[in-house]
Order: sequence, then C-alpha cells, then structure tokens
Amino acid sequence: MHTARHMVRHTASADLAHHGDADLAPGLVDLAVNVQLPEPPAWLRDEIAASLRDLGSYPRPEPARVAVAARHRRDATEVLLTNGAAEAFVLIARVLRPRRPVVVHPQFTVPELALRAAGHHVERLQLTAEDGFRLDPRALADDADLVVLGNPTNPTSVLHPAAAVASLARPGRVLVVDEAFMDAVPGEPESLAETRDLPGVLVVRTVTKTWGLAGLRVGYTLGPAALIARMAEGQPPWAVSTPALAAARACARPGAVAEAARAAGDTVRHRDYLVRGLRRLPGLAVPGDPRAPFVLVRVPAGERVRLALRDRGFAVRRGDTFPGLGPDYLRIAVRPPDVTDRLVAALTDVLPAPAEAAPAEAAPAEAAP
Ligand SMILES: Cc1ncc(COP(=O)(O)O)c(C=O)c1O
Repeated sequence: MHTARHMVRHTASADLAHHGDADLAPGLVDLAVNVQLPEPPAWLRDEIAASLRDLGSYPRPEPARVAVAARHRRDATEVLLTNGAAEAFVLIARVLRPRRPVVVHPQFTVPELALRAAGHHVERLQLTAEDGFRLDPRALADDADLVVLGNPTNPTSVLHPAAAVASLARPGRVLVVDEAFMDAVPGEPESLAETRDLPGVLVVRTVTKTWGLAGLRVGYTLGPAALIARMAEGQPPWAVSTPALAAARACARPGAVAEAARAAGDTVRHRDYLVRGLRRLPGLAVPGDPRAPFVLVRVPAGERVRLALRDRGFAVRRGDTFPGLGPDYLRIAVRPPDVTDRLVAALTDVLPAPAEAAPAEAAPAEAAP
C-alpha cells in the first residue's frame, strides 16, 4: 500500500536546526540563503524608518491585517501577522492537539522542530527522488489530522498543483501549506491563499524573502477565522513590532505586489539561465522542473564539491540536513546571470572529471560530514 511504503516515523538523523545562514561566512557569495534581496528597496526602508517615530506606542496590527487581507481577497479575521513565517509554525504546534501530525519531506525543517518541541510525535511522508519529489495525495494516511507541506517546496523547488494540495484538505484535519516562496512564482497559479471554501487550510506566507527583510521578522497566516483566532491565543502580546507591521502593510499594497510580480519574472529568467548552465556540467543533475527561487542539484561527492566551492568564494546550502536527502544534494539560490556565470566557472573547476565521478549513491565515505 502507498501509505505503508511512504509514511515513516521520524528518526532524528538529519540536523533539523541547520539553516542556510550557517553555511555562510564573511566574503562568500551567498547562494545558501533564499532571501532574494541583500537589503530592502529604498522606498521600503523609508517606510520602515518612518514607523520608528511610533516606537513609543505599542504595536497596532490592525492596519497591516486589513492590508494583507485585501491583498489576498480575504477578511481581516482570516489573517494573523506573525514574527516571520517561522512563528506561525510554533503557534500551530503550540495551540493544536493533533493525534497524528504528518510533515511532508523533504521540506523546511522548522515545522517539524516546532511540533516536536511542543511534544507532538511527528510522522513523515517522505517524497522521493524517483517520484521527482512530487506529492502523491494517496500516500497520506487518512487519519492524519495535521499535515504540513511546502509549496513551492524548499529545498526541492517543486511546485505542487493546487488541486493536489487542496485534495489533502478535509474536515477534522488542519492542512498547513507553507507558501513562503509562492510570491516568486509568477501569477501564483498553485496558491491556496485566496481559497476560502476548503476546511482547515492554513496558508503561511512571509514578507522576508522577496523584500530582503529576514532581519525584521514578519510573515502572516491566512485561514478560517476560528483557526486564526486559536493561533492568536498562543501568540505573545505584541509579537510583531511596529516596523515589521509597517513593512507588511507596505508590501501588501498593489504597487508593491506588482513590483514583486516583476521580480518573480526576473527570477524565472535568472533561474532558466542557472539551470541551463548547470545542466551543461558533466555529472551534475538538476532534477525535475524547478519553480522556486532556488534549485536543488545532485552531484557525486557533493560535500567535497560544496567545500571546494567554498574555497573559491561561493556558499551553497548543504542538502544533507533535509530529511530524505544526502550529502550529494546541494541547494543553490537563483541570482543574476553574472553571479551564475562565476558559479558555473567555479563548478567547472571543482567537479570531478567524468571518469572519476562515481554514481551519487556510491560517494566516498569521506564525503560525509
Ligand atoms: C520554506 C520556508 N518557510 C518559511 C521560512 C521562514 O521564513 P521567515 O523568515 O518569514 O520566518 C523559510 C526560511 O528559510 C522557508 O525556507
């Protein structure tokens, strides 16, 4: 049966607390972290700076809430501003009491960590390279009452069809869809952010990636008002600061949404350029059809390649801390073509010659961290 084949109890093998920023060091070209801009644009910095005049007062989330609701054609009661998307996973883990929580892997590891920290026993639905890391909704246990899925998924860059994701929703189940990178997909065709007629769907979004605001910490969750209210009960008072709320409000305006859409178009062009460059390299595979602002690659002796790239000034994200991946997977952020040209040149130098390149599974033991 599908379910028996794919559903696994977690083993604490991978280091779930590892994030791309740990692969960085001063002076390295950052291809490890998926924040699209090194800093927010000037107009956004100005808006954030203007909010500093209000720091004497406690934060008032309502204007940001209304703006985000309008951006996604929802009611303000269906929006919760959070201290980054990361806080949403902590709140969900804290306030819900699932009997059978399932995390679809490989994916961003904070949701599983948050569930475990809240005392839940997490199961994994492991998507595989053979299946292109694509979701088969039939593989999910019927009685899973909390399901967490990323779309598009970090680190696989797979964009699951909205219909497949929606088919996981049902009464008695909370379905959490992490759409942290959805605004980098032009037109957001597979998003459930505006879908209100499915039971128990929470869509988690962030403002940190597209706008270069990782240090500010701001995101939001969209969902049925009753679930949003429960999440809010678990949130510390004034969890989202006034400058973070100002940023969320500004980034929800139509002009900002249009600017993000243009950036998403650039991302597609830059990603196509990157994928073409990578696929020309012998021994390196770019599986599937990447749709996020990062690309997952498979390369024999991946750990050795990662370290050699580092010596040449490039930080890429190790793949082995994602459940279901190993050291032969690396995640590379999409950057403008001039950066890609330099990366591909460096990779050409460091990749093992084709004769040397053993199949990924047979990577030498010293390649493990
Ligand atoms: C898939 C995914 N979701 C959520 C987050 C967290 O985003 P935030 O900075 O808003 O907490 C990240 C950050 O790396 C991510 O990769």
